[in-house]
Amino acid sequence: MLPFTFYSPTYFAFGEDTENQAGALVRRFGGARVLLHYGKGSAVKSGLIDRVKRSLSEAGVTFVELGGVAPNPRSGLVYEGIELGRREKVDFLLAVGGGSVIDSAKAIAAGIPYDGDFWDFYKGKPVKEALPVGTVLTIPAAGSEGSPNTVITREETLEKRGMGSDLLRPAFSILNPALTQTLPAYQTACGAADIMTHVFERYFTNTEECEITDRMCEAVLSTIVYEMPRVMANPNHYEARANIMWAGMLAHNNLCGVGREQDWASHDIEHELSAQYDVAHGAGLAVIVPAWMKYVYRHDIARFAQLAVRVFGVNMDFQNQERTALEGVARLQGFWRSLGLPANLRELGARAEDIPMMARRVNFKGREKIGGFVPLAVEDIEKIYQLAW
Ligand code: NZQ
Ligand code: ZN
Repeated sequence: MLPFTFYSPTYFAFGEDTENQAGALVRRFGGARVLLHYGKGSAVKSGLIDRVKRSLSEAGVTFVELGGVAPNPRSGLVYEGIELGRREKVDFLLAVGGGSVIDSAKAIAAGIPYDGDFWDFYKGKPVKEALPVGTVLTIPAAGSEGSPNTVITREETLEKRGMGSDLLRPAFSILNPALTQTLPAYQTACGAADIMTHVFERYFTNTEECEITDRMCEAVLSTIVYEMPRVMANPNHYEARANIMWAGMLAHNNLCGVGREQDWASHDIEHELSAQYDVAHGAGLAVIVPAWMKYVYRHDIARFAQLAVRVFGVNMDFQNQERTALEGVARLQGFWRSLGLPANLRELGARAEDIPMMARRVNFKGREKIGGFVPLAVEDIEKIYQLAW
């Protein structure tokens, strides 16, 4: 295990009706004038926004609203939010929605006190100051409710870029599993693929002797494999929704990733897909991850066999570990397919002629290769896109 620091200051309120605590929690974490940020409509339609507003008013918190965040959130609305927040002198960002809304709120929170263009942060400039952010999560997927990260797409160039700062870890996050019962099956499935991939990015490591985090990773993955069929059969299954929701947080606040090198190539490769074709991040991952696995598994066959045995219940083939490893990848693909996720780039509506351009556009952040487990150059990425075709 490598030396590490672990910082996760978020206060979590988990359970039914917890959204009614929003006002009190804003107060508790120092807010008095909120920018209430939400998506395209689901939270308005379900009555959630009204309940949150009532809670804010009851706590004596004033607010201004900015809805309309699109999946794969865009820079345009961030600029609008920064302007609105400054004009209205808000002191707190409250995001009600999924990863897209939370990420947009984090960008606004960093942008309001900053003199320059908020996009500087997505080009590598460190965040020095940010307004506090609280969240009411409505989809378990991105893990932004417990993460320091935000991912935004710059409209003019279609660059999709992420950045992270401990200053952007939410002050509080409200997780009511019942709020996720209105999710369409496809969005639920995309969330599961994202949660699992946040674990894979940490599980596939060259660091040895990380038994505790290996086992935690496997617990999160096994929970998703167990709970997803129950939720697909019965979208109102509260307990299954609850387990998935907490798994989504655990997958990405780095509890499962400390003390080890991490990979993250699949995310970098996927972000290009959701930037180009505006597909759901989880759907893109369902296509990229199996292709990535097939491209790199020979690097550490035992690790892939371990995943196959411990998470997918594959029998260990002691004569042929490689067969076990590949059976694990096949089971993962079968599992994602059973959830209705796409299995190849064609199903995502990608164009074969775009592949070389996408491979070149992947964000290398100044490095020659991406990926901590198996470093990948542009040519490798192109081959992975081709495997995913
Ligand atoms: O806009 P509304 O109408 O709310 O609809 C949303 C949206 O269409 C809908 N939805 C959300 N909650 C719902 C609901 N529909 C019915 N009932 C509910 N309870 O679901 C759709 C997807 O929402 P979105 O917020 O885009 O999903 P997700 O949480 O998967 O976020 C995806 C974004 O997060 C980024 C992704 O790249 C993508 O841009 N990521 C952020 C990370 C982070 N900040 O740490 C890490 C991730 O790896 C990821 O890259
Ligand atoms: Zn992700």
